[in-house]
Amino acid sequence: MRLNPIRRYNDPLSVLHECMQTKPIPSATRARLLRAARKVMKNAYAPFSNFRVGAAILTSTGQVFVGCNVENSSYGMTNCAERTAIFSAIAKGGPELEIRAVAVANDHGVPCSPCGACRQVIYEFGPSAVIYYQGATGPKQNLITELLPEGFRFK
Ligand code: THU
Repeated sequence: MRLNPIRRYNDPLSVLHECMQTKPIPSATRARLLRAARKVMKNAYAPFSNFRVGAAILTSTGQVFVGCNVENSSYGMTNCAERTAIFSAIAKGGPELEIRAVAVANDHGVPCSPCGACRQVIYEFGPSAVIYYQGATGPKQNLITELLPEGFRFK
C-alpha cells in the first residue's frame, strides 16, 4: 500500500480500506465509464494523428471526470486523454484525488492502453486503480501496477 502524501490519515479505517483494495467495481459502473470515454473522445483535438482518444476516471467519491487528447503543432506538447481527465479532476476537486478506475476508448477501435507517461500519472493518484481499455483481442482490464510494475514515488 502507498499512502497519499497529501491526505491526512486520521481515520484508521480509511487506512485499512486502502490496504484491502476492496470494493469491486460493478459492471454497470464499468459500462458507464466506457460510455463516458467514448462520448468525450469526439471532442478530441487530433488534426495531426487523426486518432481520437477519450478517457473517463472514477474517483473514490464516486465522481466521474472525462478527458480527450489535445494535440499541438509542436507534437511533443500533446496531452493524452487520460492526463486531461486527471488534470481536470484535480482542477475541479483539488489535490486529494483518488482514482479507482480509468476507462480509455479510441475512434479506430484498435488496441490502446495508456502510454507510459499516463501510467505514471495514473499511479500517482490511483496506485490500486483498474484500467479498462481495448486490447488486441477485445476489451481488457488490468491493474495499474500490472501495466506499470515499478511506478515512481518521491516519498
Ligand atoms: N493518446 C492518448 O490520448 N491516449 C493514449 O492512451 C494513447 C495515445 C493520443 C496521443 C496522440 O494525440 C494520439 O493519441 C496518437 O498518439
